[in-house]
Amino acid sequence: MITMVAEKTLEDIPGVGPAIAEKLREAGYNDLLSIAVASPGDLADKCEIGEKKAMDIIEGAKLCADIGGFETGEDIMERRKEIVKLTTGSKAFDELLAGGLESQSIVELFGEFGSSKTQLCFQLAVNATLPEDRGGLDSDVIIIDSENTFRPERICQMAEYLGVDPTETLKRIHVARAFNSQHQILLVDKAMELAQQYKVKLMIVDSLTSHFRAEYVGRGTLAERQQVLNRHMHDLLNFATLNNAVIVVTNQVAAKPDAFFGDPTRPIGGHIVGHTATFRIYLRKGKAGKRVARLIDSPNLPEGEAVFMVTEDGIKD
Ligand code: GTP
Ligand code: MG
Repeated sequence: MITMVAEKTLEDIPGVGPAIAEKLREAGYNDLLSIAVASPGDLADKCEIGEKKAMDIIEGAKLCADIGGFETGEDIMERRKEIVKLTTGSKAFDELLAGGLESQSIVELFGEFGSSKTQLCFQLAVNATLPEDRGGLDSDVIIIDSENTFRPERICQMAEYLGVDPTETLKRIHVARAFNSQHQILLVDKAMELAQQYKVKLMIVDSLTSHFRAEYVGRGTLAERQQVLNRHMHDLLNFATLNNAVIVVTNQVAAKPDAFFGDPTRPIGGHIVGHTATFRIYLRKGKAGKRVARLIDSPNLPEGEAVFMVTEDGIKD
């Protein structure tokens, strides 16, 4: 386990008594680190305190949390030893990823409608509940569903095919619908809480970008959208690091180049999502029900492609 959160509590922050500590906890700030990384504006709003007070609390939390500054390459190597891998269900796909999806990272699945982003998410959710010797993470799963496309029936079909109990599998998958982009962002805080109760090594956000796309319309709003999306991605990465978890996000791209979004292989969210995601996988439809996954921009793996199938039983070669 990664030990980044100090043993100290909120009451150890100078100027934080029981009343403010309670406000902080009610607003979802349960540990020093979440306060240390908060923005003064957010903290002030959520806790109904002045911005100056919020800044003092954040500074105090930074000192208490002992965030440190730089790590040596050796420390990072140590942490990377904790990395676990999650199978996709397809051998070819796993090989493309040198064994599967890595923990402590964000994997972005992007592609046009019907390219099987959601189906792949279902399969990964089921696989994550499997024991490690079957390529799973023996863990619970959190799904933030922004498009109302979660289908427990599909989870059951996939679980049955793998010979695991469908009901037991469903019990380990925690789904929340996100009603708008702000709600989606807040659900990551909720997910942090849930991860203290359950072992959660996979969190899925399907889709990451649809609310942002719908709410921030027009070129004038682009900078703001990217800024909010950037924070959201960093919250997700924080979850990945603290929980040694895999984060999977989906991002729809237009099938044909269009005037606004341009090149189809350039997902909405553009370089902000792209640069924060550790692995980017472009999915497209192939012939006869086949799907093609292309690995783009990996820090340590060569680019390449894998062909897989979406069937009633799930993702296969
Ligand atoms: P958007 O969310 O619209 O961007 O699309 P997506 O990329 O999430 O696509 P999704 O994963 O929903 O893929 C849908 C495709 O999966 C369908 O076109 C089907 O081809 C396939 N699919 C879904 N369910 C089944 C099933 O039970 N059996 C088979 N064989 N294919 C299925
Ligand atoms: Mg989908």
